[in-house]
Amino acid sequence: MLSDRIDAPLIGSLPELKVVANYAVGVDNIDLDAARARGVPVGNTPGVLTETTADLAFALILACARGLPAAEADVRAGRWTTWSPEGWLGRDVHGATLGIVGAGAIGSAVARRAEGFGMEVLLNGRAPGPGRVGLEELLERSDFVSLHAPLSEETRGLIGEDELRAMKRTAILVNTARGPLVDPRALRRALARGWIAAAGLDVTDPEPIPADDPLLLAPNLIVLPHIGSATHATREAMASLAVDNLLAGLAGEPMPHSVA
Ligand code: GLV
Ligand code: GLV
Repeated sequence: MLSDRIDAPLIGSLPELKVVANYAVGVDNIDLDAARARGVPVGNTPGVLTETTADLAFALILACARGLPAAEADVRAGRWTTWSPEGWLGRDVHGATLGIVGAGAIGSAVARRAEGFGMEVLLNGRAPGPGRVGLEELLERSDFVSLHAPLSEETRGLIGEDELRAMKRTAILVNTARGPLVDPRALRRALARGWIAAAGLDVTDPEPIPADDPLLLAPNLIVLPHIGSATHATREAMASLAVDNLLAGLAGEPMPHSVA
């Protein structure tokens, strides 16, 4: 699982190791160089979770934009005593500009959803293509910034103080990729000081985030327990693919999906 660290010492301590099948598309929990050096193939589960994870990214975009958790909590706490023109005001998603950082399969699936909402989409990624802009321009122009890059040494801390300050004060940051893409201390300051309006996180650093983590005290923050791929159908499809990868690896055959 993505919570298991398969590092060089572990791989070195398993002389019989034949194959690693990750129950995730992200493989930042595995030392791929160490696996390659040992000739151990590594499988992952791309494709089957793309649309499900994009759904959750959009759920966070909508929930942050309209402040759903706080509004719902007010109803339950008896604070909804009158309909008011100025009660629970949020921000429009339709027609807004969405910046997608990491224009791979999941980022592209989020972009397709954004089209249905009449959004302008800006993409930042390694591969060139239409709609691509630099990260700085994306941060400056976007009303919503959604992260879909894999975690690597290159992308660790991608969104820190400078990047958060570059965003609009009305902007919303959504992370359904990997927690360490965002500097949690900088994010806490950004929310407390109003550099950005809100953030929606499905992933955190550390993970799980302890209940007394100072980030959880930040205003306008929605945090979910890494449930991007968590639907019955998708978790079943991931399990099947992980098992197919494992069986292929054990049989010495090419895996349906491998990264090393
Ligand atoms: C989940 O985060 C995955 O990488 O599959
Ligand atoms: C709101 O419910 C409206 O009718 O405008």
